[in-house]
Amino acid sequence: MQQQLSFPQSQSLALKYFAAAIVLFGVMVVAGILASIDYVHPQFLFPILPFSILKILHIDVLVIWILMAFMGALFWLLPSEYGRELVGIKLANLMFWIFCATVLAVAAIFVFVQTGPGNERTLWLVNQGRKYVEEPRWAAIIVASGVAVFVYNVVGTAIAAKRTTGVVWVIILNLTPLFFLYLIAFPAPTNISVDQFWWWWLVHFWVEATWEVMIGSIVALVLMRLMGTSRSIVETWLYIEVALVLATGVLGIGHHYFWMGAPAYWLGIGGFFSALEPLPLLGMVVHAVYDAGEHHMKMTNEPAFYWMMAEAFGNFIGAGVWGFMITLPQINLFAHGTQWTASHGHLAFWGAYGCGVISVIYLALQSSRRAPYFGGAAWKWAFALLNGGMIGMGGALMLAGMAQAFYERAIGGSTFNAFVSASSSPWFLEGMGMRLIFGIVFTAGYLILAYDLLTIGRRVAVATHAGGPARAPAE
Ligand code: HEM
Ligand code: HEM
Ligand SMILES: [Fe+2]
Repeated sequence: MQQQLSFPQSQSLALKYFAAAIVLFGVMVVAGILASIDYVHPQFLFPILPFSILKILHIDVLVIWILMAFMGALFWLLPSEYGRELVGIKLANLMFWIFCATVLAVAAIFVFVQTGPGNERTLWLVNQGRKYVEEPRWAAIIVASGVAVFVYNVVGTAIAAKRTTGVVWVIILNLTPLFFLYLIAFPAPTNISVDQFWWWWLVHFWVEATWEVMIGSIVALVLMRLMGTSRSIVETWLYIEVALVLATGVLGIGHHYFWMGAPAYWLGIGGFFSALEPLPLLGMVVHAVYDAGEHHMKMTNEPAFYWMMAEAFGNFIGAGVWGFMITLPQINLFAHGTQWTASHGHLAFWGAYGCGVISVIYLALQSSRRAPYFGGAAWKWAFALLNGGMIGMGGALMLAGMAQAFYERAIGGSTFNAFVSASSSPWFLEGMGMRLIFGIVFTAGYLILAYDLLTIGRRVAVATHAGGPARAPAE
């Protein structure tokens, strides 16, 4: 297989990162299902695997699998921008195995050790306690080193190739904040407001700034390959999108500072700027639809194309529309920290990043398996079940979240008692039950996706050998 790739070493490295990402995606789904059973049967698996641990596994693995998929995507796409192999392949290979071993070790610590006394030792060995980046400090150092090796490969190769393109410049400039923001996972201020203030820099500036720029650049590179869109068009759009993401997303961080002890001026600043955040995401949809129309939707890789369209719409709807719903302080006062937020979190992460990286994986597999056409029924089933399951989960969570906003906040006045009684309201419980059902639908989609990724491009070859029909004709 290796000889068939144009940059065999970099690209087989990329395939490894993709494989690990898809396996971790599966781990995340299992943890999500178990955690959602807790909402329906509260004593389920307690105290062996409490909800808190399942949730940590679910969301920390989410961050890692998306990061690994980003790395795979750039390891795959960048060599052809540079016209050469990456400079640090051996290092990235070594880092890959260290990364995988670390993820396994941390998962084992979370599952078997779970907690520790509130001291430095626990921060180093068990859990740093910051949502999404709970991994203990030693592991966080390895994650930071993995990202540093990745940055070295992207920047070092550009220097060695003495060649960059507009998209590569955007990627390089974006990697600096992406890397440094992660370092916020380390310090442990004792003042909770100070802690939250900086922690949001990590979470908000990752998902609403640096990761958006990253996926925007990846989409730009993919559109050129998938539909032959011209470089000048994708680069122009990319610059507009990046400018708008930064113009709205930087001060948009204020939407997390409403109720955590920050000065009151954040209500206005956060409300105004974050309300504008859907604009760049709308730009991305227009861009994708424009390109699809321009090329009469002609392509030789159906799954990559449809997953890319799902990314554009999912990003706009999940992040833009669902985020907008809860971003004005007048509404956030009621929606804050309810399942409504979780509804937005799921739809946004899935739409913006999950769908985007799946598209790149299909694109990479088509060329690694030398298949002139990628189609068939399996990807369609996976696409329908995953997206249908996610839309169903998003709807169910929103129902539960609105019940919380109404019963707990509007009527109950935000007391602890009101929280408990809203959590046992029939609307809330029905929402949780429906989320579990749609979670199972999503899981079925995951299994078909994994099967399709393993076999697409190979199944047809077998049929051809057996004297069956030749490959589906290219358009
Ligand atoms: C089978 C599918 C899934 C199930 C059953 C599921 C279930 C859950 C559960 C039970 C929680 C804890 C919510 C809470 O604290 O009340 C959660 C949180 C979360 N999940 Fe999922 N999940 C699934 C798939 C996904 C996917 C595919 C993504 C993203 C790509 C995702 C992203 C998140 C995020 C970001 C949170 C944290 C949200 C917050 O605390 O506001 N989940 N999920
Ligand atoms: C791809 C981009 C985005 C992703 C992945 C994302 C994901 C998330 C997640 C996971 C949370 C929950 C954080 C937590 O408390 O654990 C959250 C909260 C929030 N997001 Fe987003 N988001 C995105 C874009 C946006 C946009 C564009 C807006 C506004 C238009 C927005 C508005 C909000 C608000 C207001 C909250 C706080 C909700 C609360 O007070 O509980 N998000 N987001
Ligand atoms: Fe945010």
